[in-house]
Amino acid sequence: MDGTALKKMLRDADNGGYAIPAFNYSDIWDFKAIVEAAEEEEAPIMIASNPLVVDEIGPDFCGAIGKVAMEKARIPLIHHLDHSFQVEMCKTCMDCGYPSVMIDASKYDLETNIRMVNEVMEYARPRKVHVEAEVGKIRGKGIEGDFKGGDFLVAVEDAVELVKRTGVDSLAVGIGSAHGFYQGKPQLNFKRLGEVNRAIDTPLVLHGGTGIPRADVRKAIRMGINKVNVGTIIHCTYMNSLRAELNRVGDNPYTLDVMKAIRGKIKEVVKMWIETCMANGKA
Ligand code: 13P
Repeated sequence: MDGTALKKMLRDADNGGYAIPAFNYSDIWDFKAIVEAAEEEEAPIMIASNPLVVDEIGPDFCGAIGKVAMEKARIPLIHHLDHSFQVEMCKTCMDCGYPSVMIDASKYDLETNIRMVNEVMEYARPRKVHVEAEVGKIRGKGIEGDFKGGDFLVAVEDAVELVKRTGVDSLAVGIGSAHGFYQGKPQLNFKRLGEVNRAIDTPLVLHGGTGIPRADVRKAIRMGINKVNVGTIIHCTYMNSLRAELNRVGDNPYTLDVMKAIRGKIKEVVKMWIETCMANGKA
């Protein structure tokens, strides 16, 4: 799998009226559960490591796991680096076999954002790696810290300018979605999403999937979103099920028994999100 395959996956999703769900993993156990669920649902998906996971496990280990999984999976599967704030990490992950990376320079001014995206693009192009950038900001509590500011909304002219001067492959847009759990009902700015979608031809990405009601996710897909990122609910389902299972079995648990017992809980959530994105049966 290389970035060309992802281009086709996103185009097919756009034509077919669904989105590619992208799930964040933390280790091999949730990684396997996510892929198994997608195979059972016959869904094309992306599976993503954020920079904290890459730092902790190592880009070479993550890259190797990703490569084997992409080769073996019975569905279109793309391994992706999520929210890298550093050009260097994007390059390292490309060297380790990631077919897709995100350079998130959205906290800088537009010129700096464009410059950093171009640095990644230069390295990515000859390697056929897909690059995602971000304009506007994702709210909430993510690996980039806690962003509560009011200036999150993507400006249409910024999206147009960045795409024109970088040729980036996909674009995450700040439309009010947030990482982590939402305080109250998420308020997505569908009007702005529609304006950006009409202004550029680049696939658009919705971050902060956890907690967005199904109807709103589907409305966002109708209005131009082609990829939906889901992280928090995967991590929390994993950790909460782990705690429950450990409490249930008591002292001296055996790792494999515990992991087998909780795999189904993660798969349930993954399947629910695949269905929300209407990606089931689209492999
Ligand atoms: P959530 O953790 O809010 O689901 O968001 C995931 C995400 O956008 C990863 O980039």
